[in-house]
Amino acid sequence: MARCDRLAAFSEDPDRLTRTYGTRELRLAQDEVAGWMAAAGMAVRRDAVGNLIGRWEGADPSAPALLLGSHLDSVPDAGRYDGPLGILVAIAAIENLNSEMDRPPFVVEVIAFADEEGSRFHTTFLGSRALAGTLTGADLHRVDAAGVSLREAISEFGGDPDNLLSCKRPDRARAYIEVHIEQGPVLEELDCPVAVVTEIAGQSRIAITVTGQANHAGTVPMHVRRDALAGAAEFVLAVERLAKQTPGLVATVGTIAVSPGASNVIPGLVSLSLDMRHANDETRARAVETARNSATAIAAARGLEHSWEMVLDAQAVSCEDELIEALSSAAVAEGINAARLTSGAGHDAIPMAAIAPVGMLFVRCEGGISHHPDERVTEADVQVAIDVLTRFIRDQMRSATA
Ligand code: GLV
Ligand code: MN
Ligand code: MN
Repeated sequence: MARCDRLAAFSEDPDRLTRTYGTRELRLAQDEVAGWMAAAGMAVRRDAVGNLIGRWEGADPSAPALLLGSHLDSVPDAGRYDGPLGILVAIAAIENLNSEMDRPPFVVEVIAFADEEGSRFHTTFLGSRALAGTLTGADLHRVDAAGVSLREAISEFGGDPDNLLSCKRPDRARAYIEVHIEQGPVLEELDCPVAVVTEIAGQSRIAITVTGQANHAGTVPMHVRRDALAGAAEFVLAVERLAKQTPGLVATVGTIAVSPGASNVIPGLVSLSLDMRHANDETRARAVETARNSATAIAAARGLEHSWEMVLDAQAVSCEDELIEALSSAAVAEGINAARLTSGAGHDAIPMAAIAPVGMLFVRCEGGISHHPDERVTEADVQVAIDVLTRFIRDQMRSATA
């Protein structure tokens, strides 16, 4: 808990916690985490995208590795547990186990992913996609709000944009396990400290621009205007209606930028982000198509143009049955009847499913609040998560050597 507080001090913004990919503050937070990894007995390195990786060498270095981790980047005005908690719980579990044995039978790595939220470049999972070998050069041209390209950001962060494939793990891992706050209210309702995750919803992220005609706000009559923002506003409400009418669908326009952005100029250009999620990939794909048709119809009716770029299409992921059972058994052995939950939030476990069976453990958070500074967890619940993860890893070691 103290370490989460310590990491919260590394922020780009003076009065709130914001730590996005490639920044000095993320680097400083990594240096802090690297010290804790080393103190727990791990060898620490950074890969070409800037993930921080702690390795506890195994007796058999060629046996499939057990990977643990979560992300160190944050959304703007974030809480202090979304991401860091999973890294720190994993380090705490290694500390426990390192005091019990010299070497694990297989390699155990703790990964602090450099980007999960996608707050800076809108596209997400840069860290875990690089590790899974699915981050390609196609994303390098993306620019942040200041016009800095992802290529430049990777270089500035000490990485190598031309060598991203070097991040890819050569072999399929034994498992990837991520501890994360629930980010919803269900565990609190169930009065249960932790849950084992069964599946993670898929998500689409789309970058949209709407183009009209910037003009004088005082002289151009209403019936001849081509106001890009009025069109975008109609689209935002159409998307909200669509999500309300589609069971299980959530859709969010989270950013909107208006150009030229003056009170006496009709908006000529609007850029907005759309995030759509559903546990069923076909339903999500249909919803994305419906939203796109709405955008086309609204633009046509208003004499506007629009562009539509899919920047992320992450499939829903099922957690591995054996890992679900093993995490549940570890919880029972710790005296906890863990709930089972589907995750609506995205996690590094989504890209990691390409190179490992994945499992997740959720920790109860107060009021289900997250992506907000009021994110809270209790020390007792975090202790449960550390105990369950420690026992899970110990069980994996026993079955590997049996
Ligand atoms: C990450 O928190 C996401 O679900 O967008
Ligand atoms: Mn997260
Ligand atoms: Mn998040």
